[in-house]
Amino acid sequence: MPFIAHLSDLHIGSISFVEELLINVIDYVNEIKPNVTIVTGDITDNGYYLEYKEAASYLDQIKTPILVVPGNHDSRHIGDEVFEELIKNRYGTLKVKKHGLKVIGLDSSEPDLDYGRVGRSQQNWMAEELKKADEENLYKIIALHHHIIPVPRTGRERNVLTDAGDILQTIMERKADLILSGHKHMPHFWMMENSAFITAGTASSLKLRGRELSSFNTINIEEDFIEIVLNRADGTQRCLAKYENTCLGD
Ligand SMILES: [Fe+2]
Ligand SMILES: [Fe+2]
Repeated sequence: MPFIAHLSDLHIGSISFVEELLINVIDYVNEIKPNVTIVTGDITDNGYYLEYKEAASYLDQIKTPILVVPGNHDSRHIGDEVFEELIKNRYGTLKVKKHGLKVIGLDSSEPDLDYGRVGRSQQNWMAEELKKADEENLYKIIALHHHIIPVPRTGRERNVLTDAGDILQTIMERKADLILSGHKHMPHFWMMENSAFITAGTASSLKLRGRELSSFNTINIEEDFIEIVLNRADGTQRCLAKYENTCLGD
């Protein structure tokens, strides 16, 4: 059954970045061999070319199919251009047909701004890609940096997508299964109808809130249920959510 690793907010180049944390995460991911690894942005801290080179060399070490989208930090200092040069397209799809998965990655960043926006052309493209995934009977995963629904315990709401309502409408109409994001460095899970909105923490930085630890998520899609597991830097795990699988076997 499908098995997904969801990492976010590496913040390579920040003084809060801890190389050892990232090496441990990469080793662990390579050990558990997910069917796909999804990285929801802020891979760098300032979008600098040298930070991207370092990020690309780490991401290359992940031995699974991988999809990476940029975050607000990645789009600083024309980092959005560097992203396309050293990582890949800022938005695009990744199909893992063998495991029945399709990941649709969106670029929600705006150059040198912290807030997020997907925009109408990407929204229309996403709707089309979700429709195609349905026709192929694939599990539909959206990956973007900014959260669409506010995340609790993160203080004043600032950087929710400016077009969150429009994007949410397409997601609900087209019945996306998982919506993965980062940005707030606070793991969280929201369920709306049959769509799960999952936020990952920061995988390799100490930009943390309260007593949270650096972490990443793994998602097990079983025939009867879906389980989201929070994997903390101290080696402990916590079930972030477990819910009935109503998607597969329809
Ligand atoms: Fe971040
Ligand atoms: Fe961010």
